Amino acid sequence: MPSAAEEMEALRRRALSCTDCELSRTRTHVVFGEGDPEADIVLVGEGPGEWEDRTGRPFVGRAGKLLEAVLREVGLKREELYITNIVKCRAATEVGGRLRNRPPRASEVKACRKWLEAQLRIIRPKVLVCIGGPAASLLLHKGFKMTEERGRWFTDTPYAPSAIAVLHPAYILRKEGEDFLRARELLVEDLTKVRRRLTEEP
Ligand code: URA
Repeated sequence: MPSAAEEMEALRRRALSCTDCELSRTRTHVVFGEGDPEADIVLVGEGPGEWEDRTGRPFVGRAGKLLEAVLREVGLKREELYITNIVKCRAATEVGGRLRNRPPRASEVKACRKWLEAQLRIIRPKVLVCIGGPAASLLLHKGFKMTEERGRWFTDTPYAPSAIAVLHPAYILRKEGEDFLRARELLVEDLTKVRRRLTEEP
């Protein structure tokens, strides 16, 4: 039986040459995901942005830095988790000669979700964390409402025994002043719940 690490590496190699949607034409790197293939916790975002596309690593831009700071604050280490996205290649449109990130199209998600599903089958996490509404709508239920449902536990989901959705750090970064601090605090609260779910600390 191959180990989780071997299975993940074989999957990654296949994903690196994927041309199943248009995003493969404009990408610099496939941002497959990274971390411990036997992690208890998997974090899933929407898709790579500019810095992720340049480096081939998920959540390394401004949103990634905020996520990493909050993870550290609540006592979770990035390298102990597995972090990935719904789509593995950057979705962007050219506006005035510059590429601007855009949400991936339904057809792109449809073509790409096999990679995420295979990753989740290999890892079989105890806790799945959906970062932002798109991941929650795909993995928890259609039409997920972040304002009402973030921070709530979903149990016995197809991908993990416990799952939760948290605010996307890019959304938090678009806020200012008190609003920024309030939204950041919600992310701290929700990721604290995630850490406690594993240690079952009160
Ligand atoms: N936003 C995401 O959803 N994923 C990343 O990897 C980076 C930013």
